[in-house]
Amino acid sequence: MGTTGRSTLTSKWIKTKVLMKSSEISPLIPETVRFGRENLKTMLQKYGMVYIKPERGTYGNGVMRAETDRESGRTLYQYQSGTKLKKMTDFEAFYQSLKKQTRSRSYLIQKGIVLLKHKDRRFDLRVMVQLSPKGKWETTGMIGRVAQSGKIVTNYHNGGKPTSIEKLLSPHMDTAKQAYLIHRLKKLGEDIGRFYHKKNLGFKQLGVDVGLDRTLTPWIIEVNTNPDPYIFNQLKDKSMYRKVMSYRRALKKRKA
Ligand SMILES: Nc1ncnc2c1ncn2[C@@H]1O[C@H](COP(=O)(O)OP(=O)(O)O)[C@@H](O)[C@H]1O
Ligand SMILES: [Mg+2]
Repeated sequence: MGTTGRSTLTSKWIKTKVLMKSSEISPLIPETVRFGRENLKTMLQKYGMVYIKPERGTYGNGVMRAETDRESGRTLYQYQSGTKLKKMTDFEAFYQSLKKQTRSRSYLIQKGIVLLKHKDRRFDLRVMVQLSPKGKWETTGMIGRVAQSGKIVTNYHNGGKPTSIEKLLSPHMDTAKQAYLIHRLKKLGEDIGRFYHKKNLGFKQLGVDVGLDRTLTPWIIEVNTNPDPYIFNQLKDKSMYRKVMSYRRALKKRKA
């Protein structure tokens, strides 16, 4: 990669591998490997539940959730794609069925995070990080996204509902814990921005997808380099939306 880098990067594999080099950030990245028979076996043994997704995907398209279970002494395999669920008892048949879904595209397997739920729907968070007009990485917005009932992805373009963070967090923790978590997310976003910068990737804006499990660990699910700012316009309070858009305009001017 050149010294100026490039402002966007689609490969989730490369973006993950770079972040793994940071000893501060890497503990928050769910283990990620390439899709294949042996990796699938090992990851399921290790985690019981994994997400399988295109290396270069968007909008939650092609994302699957696979898990193993034991039922009356034997292992059961199942996966969900969209709202369809498939169950199998034979690992090879299971692997072949998943492989067919990938249609020979490059796919990744990632440790599955058991996402917190809001009214029985999974949710995750989007942390928006932008280079400020002064050239400093700054977290400019945070929003939650609630999956459609029964769905495994929270993406707006997949029916996910943008929701304020406070509304989603309050049922799970008191206000002191919320404040601490929000502070931690803000710093995490900026740490990620600075680290990529140090590695000479010329990103200017990042949208970090963060999943919370019951321990409230902020797991980094993926980092988007061309994040949608308009999701923030879905909130009643327009202050974040205005800030995100003003930083965006400043970045555009700088480029010109
Ligand atoms: N490892 C994971 N654990 C839990 N949920 C995940 C995981 N990976 C993806 N998801 C869910 O699927 C959504 C889409 O996955 P993501 O990796 O962000 O790909 P995309 O580029 O399609 O947005 C995430 O926002 C999250 O809701
Ligand atoms: Mg995403």
